[in-house]
Amino acid sequence: MSDGYYSSKKTDDICEDVCGQGTRAALSMSRLRCILRGVDLRTYMFLFVIVPLCIFGVYLHGQKISYFLRPIWESPPKPFQNIPHYYNENISMETLCKLHGWGIRESPRRVYDAVLFSNEIDILTIRWNELYPYVTQFVLLESNSTFTGLPKPLLFAGKRDQFKFIEPRLTYGMIGGRFKKGENPFVEEAYQRLALDELLRVAGVEDDDLLIMSDVDEIPSAHTINLLRWCDDTPPILHLQLRNYLYSFEFFVDSKSWRASVHRYKTGKTRYAHYRQTDDILSDAGWHCSFCFRQISDFVFKMKAYSHYDRVRFSHYLNHDRIQDVICKGANLFDMIPEEYTFKEIIGKMGPIPHSYSAVHLPTYLLKNAENYKYLLPGNCRRGG
Ligand SMILES: *[C@@H]1O[C@H](CO)[C@@H](O)[C@H](O)[C@H]1NC(C)=O
Ligand SMILES: *[C@@H]1O[C@H](CO)[C@@H](O)[C@H](O)[C@H]1NC(C)=O
Repeated sequence: MSDGYYSSKKTDDICEDVCGQGTRAALSMSRLRCILRGVDLRTYMFLFVIVPLCIFGVYLHGQKISYFLRPIWESPPKPFQNIPHYYNENISMETLCKLHGWGIRESPRRVYDAVLFSNEIDILTIRWNELYPYVTQFVLLESNSTFTGLPKPLLFAGKRDQFKFIEPRLTYGMIGGRFKKGENPFVEEAYQRLALDELLRVAGVEDDDLLIMSDVDEIPSAHTINLLRWCDDTPPILHLQLRNYLYSFEFFVDSKSWRASVHRYKTGKTRYAHYRQTDDILSDAGWHCSFCFRQISDFVFKMKAYSHYDRVRFSHYLNHDRIQDVICKGANLFDMIPEEYTFKEIIGKMGPIPHSYSAVHLPTYLLKNAENYKYLLPGNCRRGG
């Protein structure tokens, strides 16, 4: 302790001696030398090894570090008010409504299902078949631009023939992209959602109709929509709690998907949105299958197209073999850590998602056509293309 004190005192003295004389240039040179002589090996190590390593580490893993520290800088949102959900196929609608504290109507409400379509053809097929019995009008909008401003083929328009069964109930709209370079993708997304409001009016939505607002891959279960259309006094806006899956129904993540919502339409008030709009959420109301694609090329497209393109930090993330590997392991495509609000949850969810071997209570159409949609079922992680 005292040794260090004396030696640093000594170097200070030397410096004062040197700096006391000479030209200005020589002065600053010798001052630098003095400073360098004053620091020991450990300080050099720190400056030239540890600091660059840290900077490189932050460059590689900065996003992970900030997500990991999230519980410190962000508190969780206000919790939802969970509405218990009752269902069994042999219970009458009257009893079901009563169990929820709701009355039953003379006739069901009309139901509109509106989506912004990107490239989720298979999931769209499963969705529309699931909801078909209870939906009055399906509204689909597609753009020739992704949210990130990349040109996109009109995939739905090209495959419309596959959706003959829906044709009499379909309102289709196409909107030209704005192709603004370097713009925040959320702006294009908001622009497209606004156009969806207009398309809904074209489709003939009226006051008190039910309107489902959700992404294509957020699929309410048929019985949930049937319940909401038959019961009276349901909340005017209700979020749907969905089971979160990743890549297929083999990887069950959690039950915390909440963005989908059902609205009793009000002209001039209801706006198509995908954020939190109320505190009420109906439990166990369907499935959210993210990145549930048939072809590896669809994964690459989605990774580039969606609003979080900044997560593709390295081009090797788009490598086909890597993506296949990530899918089979249930790992993270973007090599991110879980987005949670407490350390307990972050740590609990680190690492790959465990495999699930349950295919109970999945969308009807998926199980009826299991051969064609094998890749969505447990034990079939290999993709084509
Ligand atoms: C459910 O109802 C159907 C007829 O609606 C009946 O055939 C079946 O036996 C019932 N199942 C159970 C488990 O009660
Ligand atoms: C997108 O669609 C709009 C409207 O139809 C059209 O004017 C524009 O040329 C299209 N752009 C691309 C890149 O396809």
